[in-house]
Amino acid sequence: MTTQIALITGANKGIGFETARILGGDGITVLVGARSAGRGERAAAALRAEGIDARFVRLDVTDAGTVESAAEWIDAEFGRLDILVNNAGITTTGAAGNGLYPPSRTAPDLVRTAFETNVFGVVAVTNAMLPLLRRSPAGRIVNVSSELGSLGLHSDPSSSVHAVNLLPYNASKSALNAVTVAYAKELAGTSVTVNAAAPGYCATDLNEHAGHRTAAQGASVIAGVAVLGDGGPTGAYVSEDGPVPW
Ligand SMILES: NC(=O)c1ccc[n+]([C@@H]2O[C@H](COP(=O)([O-])OP(=O)(O)OC[C@H]3O[C@@H](n4cnc5c(N)ncnc54)[C@H](OP(=O)(O)O)[C@@H]3O)[C@@H](O)[C@H]2O)c1
Repeated sequence: MTTQIALITGANKGIGFETARILGGDGITVLVGARSAGRGERAAAALRAEGIDARFVRLDVTDAGTVESAAEWIDAEFGRLDILVNNAGITTTGAAGNGLYPPSRTAPDLVRTAFETNVFGVVAVTNAMLPLLRRSPAGRIVNVSSELGSLGLHSDPSSSVHAVNLLPYNASKSALNAVTVAYAKELAGTSVTVNAAAPGYCATDLNEHAGHRTAAQGASVIAGVAVLGDGGPTGAYVSEDGPVPW
C-alpha cells in the first residue's frame, strides 16, 4: 500500500506534535508544519529519532507566501496529500484570561488576531491544500476545534464550558466549526471528508499547562478522526466522548 502523507500545522509542539507522533507511529509520512524553521526542524528531528518519517515544512498559516510555498513543495515532493490537520491555534487573552477579559473590555484587535490564525489561516491552508487532497483516494481534513467553540454548550448553564467566556478564542472556534460545515457541504460526495475534533482540556503552552489531560490524549482524538476509513462521517464535530453539540 502507498504510504500516506499527512500535513499537521503547528506541529512543533503541544497537541500538533503529539498528533504527528501518533500518525507517524502508524507508518504515515508526517509533514511537520511550523512557522519557525528552528522549532520545526527540531521537532521533525525528534520524530525521526523515534523512527518516524517526518519532514519539516515552513508554514505560517497567517502568511500567504509560506502557505503557497508549502503547497508547491508538497506537490513537487509527493504529488498529493492524504491528511490535513489544521491544528495551529492561539489564544489572545492568555491562560488566565477568563474574568480578566469580559467581552465588554475586549479590544477588537484581540478578536481579529485570534481569527487570523484560528479561522482565516485554516481557510488559506485548506484552499491551498485542497487540490492535493483531491488527488488522494481518501482525503481527510481535521480542524482542531474546542468544546469552547460549542454554542450549544455555551448556552447551557449546567455545562462546564458555560463559565469560560473568552470572546476571541471561543468565537474563533465557533467560526471554525462553521468553516468545517461549509467545506463538508462543498466536498460532499467527493473522496475528501472534513470534520472538527475537540481534543479536550490538555496541558500545553496554550493554557500554561493548566489542562487536566495530556497533549497525547488530545492528539489521539484528532488522529482517530484523521484515519477514519470510507463511510466515516463528514461535517461532524466530535470529542473523545462522541458528538459535541454545535
Ligand atoms: N490545549 C488545550 O486544552 C486545547 C483544547 C482545545 C483545543 N485546542 C487547540 O489545539 C490546537 C493546538 O494547541 P496546543 O494546546 O497544542 O497549543 P500550543 O502548545 O501553544 O501549540 C500551538 C501550535 O500552533 C502553532 N502556531 C501558532 N500560530 C501559528 C501560525 N500563525 N502559523 C503556524 N503555526 C502556528 C505554534 O507554533 P509556535 O511554537 O511557533 O508558537 C504551536 O506549534 C489549537 O488549535 C488549540 O486551539 C487546545
